Amino acid sequence: MPSTAEREAAVFMMSAGRLPVTLVRGEGSYVWDDADNVYLDFVAGIASDSLGHCHPAVVDAIKSQGETLLHVSNYFYTLPQLELADAVLGASGMKRIFFCNSGAEATEGAIKIGRKWGQTRKEGAFEIITMEQSFHGRTLASVSATGTPRFSEPFRPVEGFRHVPFNDVDAVRAAVGPQTAAILVEPLQGEGGVNVADPGYLRALRAICDEHNLLLMLDEVQTGIGRTGKMFAWQHEDVQPDVMALAKGLGSGVPIGAIVANARGDILEPGDHGTTFGGQPFTCAVANATVRTILEQNIPQQVAQKGETLMNSLRALQDRHPVINEVRGQGLLVAVQFSEEIGPALVAACRERGMLCNVVKPNVLRLVPPLTVSDEELQEAVDIIAAALDSVSS
Ligand SMILES: Cc1ncc(COP(=O)(O)O)c(C=O)c1O
Repeated sequence: MPSTAEREAAVFMMSAGRLPVTLVRGEGSYVWDDADNVYLDFVAGIASDSLGHCHPAVVDAIKSQGETLLHVSNYFYTLPQLELADAVLGASGMKRIFFCNSGAEATEGAIKIGRKWGQTRKEGAFEIITMEQSFHGRTLASVSATGTPRFSEPFRPVEGFRHVPFNDVDAVRAAVGPQTAAILVEPLQGEGGVNVADPGYLRALRAICDEHNLLLMLDEVQTGIGRTGKMFAWQHEDVQPDVMALAKGLGSGVPIGAIVANARGDILEPGDHGTTFGGQPFTCAVANATVRTILEQNIPQQVAQKGETLMNSLRALQDRHPVINEVRGQGLLVAVQFSEEIGPALVAACRERGMLCNVVKPNVLRLVPPLTVSDEELQEAVDIIAAALDSVSS
């Protein structure tokens, strides 16, 4: 009998690699493989399983909506969509929302809004300023916005975006011209290395947008829904964007995204945008259960504390493991940067010791556990990383 890896290799478009483990079930912060080995899950579906695996609120919503109505299309009114809209708009203080199915679709929609803003409010301006090392998704527009050229190179030409260094306000100022319509930025770059915005950075971008009549569009696909210790990362600085893209943690494991706009960014008109599956009752009911649980249980506040605990415990490893250059992050979006490219070996050593994690660069380990992770589980992760470091550095 061929292995899962061999069967896949014969039939799948091999557009990305996999870690060598076949996962079959999960509970809380743990997952099990097909040989019944258990792993502490610090990948969490790439920062998507916000409430962990099989959280009762999520399971209940799946069961009850699954027995009621899955999908009917946006030709019709449905209630779970409206309830989720109320929850997200209430938490953000923003005005309108559009539901889609993924992060790339959410940023794609934001890009369309940015383009329309330029065309209708800035005499045909079309260019969107985005940041080097950013990641915005894999559709053609979102990959063009992405400031990591290797993702877009095979699909050239990619047009309409100007990339400037992250955290460099002067570079943004210098890039703004008559052709500029909007700025699209992650409040904390996840895939690009877990790069935290400097204090005042978002505020400065907001001021540039106001001064030059641009839209400020935040990609909160990875940072949103409590991940950084606030419901939305912009709330750390109280800098509301005109447009915000959400996905990942919004559905705690079901595929859903959203484009959210304040009054300024609310410019889509009938016929401008659409989707077959986006906003369907099933995913919206699960996301609604997710968002309401996160808000009711004050999870963002707990995430802020847990993030500090995790980062402090990791920093405490530095004396014994000088290969650790830096520990950085916000909330439970944390990176450990090494002076050598030991990341892939460390990920394998952690896996052998019962923990899943991944690298965003060969020398940068990313830790994104479920937001519901316990203090004991955080300590277990730190102990595993310490043991794994012993094994890879010896
Ligand atoms: C900031 C950001 N934007 C967009 C995306 C794309 O999301 P998706 O993979 O759901 O299309 C990601 C995915 O990692 C992301 O981190």
